Amino acid sequence: MIEINDNFHLSPTKESDKASFVKFLNDPGVYDGTLRIPRPYTMADADFFVKMCAEKRENFGKEMEFRIRLNETGEAIGGISLHGFNGPDSHKDELGYALAKPYWGRGIMTETVKIFCNYVFKNHGLIRIEAPIFLRNIASQRVVEKAGFKKEGIMRKMYLKDGEFLDGVMYALIKD
Ligand SMILES: CC(C)(COP(=O)(O)OP(=O)(O)OC[C@H]1O[C@@H](n2cnc3c(N)ncnc32)[C@H](O)[C@@H]1OP(=O)(O)O)[C@@H](O)C(=O)NCCC(=O)NCCS
Repeated sequence: MIEINDNFHLSPTKESDKASFVKFLNDPGVYDGTLRIPRPYTMADADFFVKMCAEKRENFGKEMEFRIRLNETGEAIGGISLHGFNGPDSHKDELGYALAKPYWGRGIMTETVKIFCNYVFKNHGLIRIEAPIFLRNIASQRVVEKAGFKKEGIMRKMYLKDGEFLDGVMYALIKD
């Protein structure tokens, strides 16, 4: 368990989180900002995701996916993860995160990104954490800027989403 503040904490993904994924990820705002979260988001998607978290934990020998939980009820209202695309021995990894819409705009993800990155620099042996973001996703860029990431450049037509090529922007945080 990783404390965020008096109201929220991080802990690993569980089978019982599937209902909260379906409840919160079925949102156009979440869909617009992300590349890999499907919409509609079904119980089958939640099932696939929970299995993938378990496989990643097994392959990397450490927790790669955390849920952001309400301290009061334990309900998962968001998540933050390392994608692990470069394998367990890489010096770098890519950050992903999403928060349920009712909780947007309260600084929760900024605080979470700061705490999560400190945790992974200490525990995962990483030197570089990357945050590639859709250029249109201003809120997410603000989050990483406030968490100390530096902008490294624009990636033209980096993503293909719903038949449209989207520009991206690369941010990264380097271990001191
Ligand atoms: C992006 C996301 C994680 C932000 O979480 P959050 O907890 O609301 O973020 P914070 O409150 O910590 O910070 C958001 C910042 O963006 C700003 N912001 C939000 N929408 C904005 C907009 N349209 N234009 C300019 N700034 C905007 C807020 O004002 C705030 O900045 P400030 O503190 O300087 O005022 C959340 O909106 C989300 O889950 N979106 C859908 C999924 C997603 O986009 N994930 C990221 C993929 S890269």
